[in-house]
Amino acid sequence: MTKEDLPEILAIEAASFPTPWTEGMFLDELRTAHAQCLVIKIEIDGKIWIAAYIIFWLVADEVHLHNLAVKNEFRRQGLACSMMKLMNDIGAQVGMTRQTLEVRELNHQAISLYRKCGFVVKGKRPRYYTDTNEDALVMWAEIQQERNHG
Ligand SMILES: CC(C)(COP(=O)(O)OP(=O)(O)OC[C@H]1O[C@@H](n2cnc3c(N)ncnc32)[C@H](O)[C@@H]1OP(=O)(O)O)[C@@H](O)C(=O)NCCC(=O)NCCS
Repeated sequence: MTKEDLPEILAIEAASFPTPWTEGMFLDELRTAHAQCLVIKIEIDGKIWIAAYIIFWLVADEVHLHNLAVKNEFRRQGLACSMMKLMNDIGAQVGMTRQTLEVRELNHQAISLYRKCGFVVKGKRPRYYTDTNEDALVMWAEIQQERNHG
């Protein structure tokens, strides 16, 4: 992910979340040394589109997922699974042992994705999301040395 990607990313973000991240939040992540900010780009008829992005931190021996979204037109094609596998594999390469994330309790699509990737719910933060008053589920998974999502 680069600064030049942000206009497209902000449009995906706005279409994906009730309270989208601002440009400043993305710029902060791009400036953070231990943040990994990655995009998947897809070329269609000579035009390159940002199809998905993921942001995670490598902290101590833990990977923390901060943001993940797939552009609507490219959903249900395995891109989120691929990005989650990439996060696991980068974590494994640099010696991380576990990975964690927070997800809105009503975001069933994302919860299903994370369960498929081996995450389990280990805790709950009541009314963590002040825009909707939703609880956050705190999910954890071990880093796998080899992953195969089929
Ligand atoms: C959640 C999201 C990232 C999934 O992206 P995706 O590329 O469509 O996901 P994949 O194609 O890799 O699907 C992987 C798994 O996710 C789950 N999933 C994805 N979309 C789903 C849907 N519409 N309904 C139910 N489960 C869904 C399924 O378990 C799926 O596995 P399956 O295809 O074997 O059933 C995407 O819907 C999105 O960007 N949502 C808005 C942003 C968001 O909620 N991000 C997560 C914040 S915590």
